[in-house]
Amino acid sequence: MKRREFLSTTFAVAAASLAPRTAHAAEGVVEVLLDEPIGDIAPEIYGQFTEHIGGVVYDGIWVGENSKIPNVGGIRKALVDHLRQLHVPVIRWPGGCFADSYDWRDGIGPRAKRPMRTNFWDNNPALVNAPDGPQKYEPNAFGTAEFLRFCELCGAQPYLAANVRSLTPYDFDEWVEYCNSPAGSTTLAGTRADDGSREPFNVTYWGIGNESWGCGGSFRPEEYATEFRRFTAWVPTYGLKLRFIGSGPGAREGDPQVAWTRGFLENLLAKGERMLDRLYGFALHYYCRGSGKRDALDFTVDDWYTLLWQADVMDSLVSKHWLAMGEFDKEHKAKLVVDEWGAWHAGPALAPNYLFSYIPTLRDALMSALTLDIFNRHAEKLAMCNNAQLVNNINTVFVAQEDRFAPTTNFHVFDMYQSHMGGRSLRVVSDAPAISYGDQKTFWGLAGSASLHGKTLVVTIVNPHMSEPRVTEVSLRGASAKSAQVTVLAASDIHAHNDFDHPQAVAPKTEPVSVSGPRFTWTFAPASVTKLEIELA
Ligand code: AHR
Repeated sequence: MKRREFLSTTFAVAAASLAPRTAHAAEGVVEVLLDEPIGDIAPEIYGQFTEHIGGVVYDGIWVGENSKIPNVGGIRKALVDHLRQLHVPVIRWPGGCFADSYDWRDGIGPRAKRPMRTNFWDNNPALVNAPDGPQKYEPNAFGTAEFLRFCELCGAQPYLAANVRSLTPYDFDEWVEYCNSPAGSTTLAGTRADDGSREPFNVTYWGIGNESWGCGGSFRPEEYATEFRRFTAWVPTYGLKLRFIGSGPGAREGDPQVAWTRGFLENLLAKGERMLDRLYGFALHYYCRGSGKRDALDFTVDDWYTLLWQADVMDSLVSKHWLAMGEFDKEHKAKLVVDEWGAWHAGPALAPNYLFSYIPTLRDALMSALTLDIFNRHAEKLAMCNNAQLVNNINTVFVAQEDRFAPTTNFHVFDMYQSHMGGRSLRVVSDAPAISYGDQKTFWGLAGSASLHGKTLVVTIVNPHMSEPRVTEVSLRGASAKSAQVTVLAASDIHAHNDFDHPQAVAPKTEPVSVSGPRFTWTFAPASVTKLEIELA
């Protein structure tokens, strides 16, 4: 059977396979251990990241109040509507590297009077031949009040990143004051009221710099620990519990950069263990940079598996940094945050000035899905994760250009996986024939995660094999299924993607299926992401 034919009959095959299994029929196994809870899945691990870079803010988010593009006070309406659908829990802003070059004062007050500045990314060689515009020269039309309005419209919590490289703790305190001081209390509360919000925004997530080992100041870990202490000392709280997030390492496959984690914590605690009370989270960054041409759309079988293998490295990175944190923080008061992750292909760009943009394919959807499964499996360690980035950038969830807009393959993964939010993560053991590729490399055959929500069990599984289905025995250890519905994201071509002309080329299909008992057989389609939502007896 050709792959396309197989996929068009996937549901029939799957439904048929729900009949009592015949001995040795299954080549894969997925066990969900209901009596082995891992921890609650913080909804925030389904967070997003936005930066003043390329086409993310202008024109991904901000189109302006006078635009013909449907907008809510200048913010792209289609984006807001889709983010509400995703129940996006938290959005990080304004960077990224941009954050450590940004003066928040440039983005407050009457928009017409805001200064024009050189954007941090103007130095990037990829922009040399790009036309001038807000991607090179920052007009500051989208500032703090606009971002916080965007979060409010989407129902998301804001996570702001402070400038540690080029501003002072005093500037940081005043940014907190602008955001959080009570109505009518301070001059900055007055400016905020003039900007449209008399009431405080009550922002609690504050990143203390970004990539402080690199674009955020080229600090050594001990130097950054000192900066962290300075920036988090006596910040005005206005009765809120502020959640400070330290800038963690930029890990690479084969180079987890644990020395940064150890160096930071050792020097933070040099002032006493109480310093841990200031550290809500510690932020790891990890990108999968692909292989071969690093082209988002034109890739080989080897490139397909290499990207998925790179994504899987996240599993060990979370463990390694968690263990290193535990050497200093014995009770694990501080949690891990992964506030930048995603696939970073070299292009092709959506537009010359849309730095780091590309259109994700089915490959990126699987990469995102298996990363989110990793996060679920480490639920007890993770307080927040932020996909980089929301729109028109690496690992993007949407593409948007002028009046055109499309949800990408990644959108569908976030949409499917939102069912895990707030659930209790359960241990999943899975196995299937390993996949051989390239020069004697291998990759696992099936993996996923599970979460319990009362009597509903959500199981998500990735079958990375680009051409082979996996007949699998699914066992619920300690529970019994009553009914289920399945959602499958797959396509007949591993390069399949959504673009402006074909916004629905790749979309999941949902169907009810009848299952009962503690065990059933399921056929996972090739190159697919599957969600089983099982009602338990
Ligand atoms: O997401 C793009 C860039 O990648 C961010 O600005 C930076 O933090 C990281 O290196």
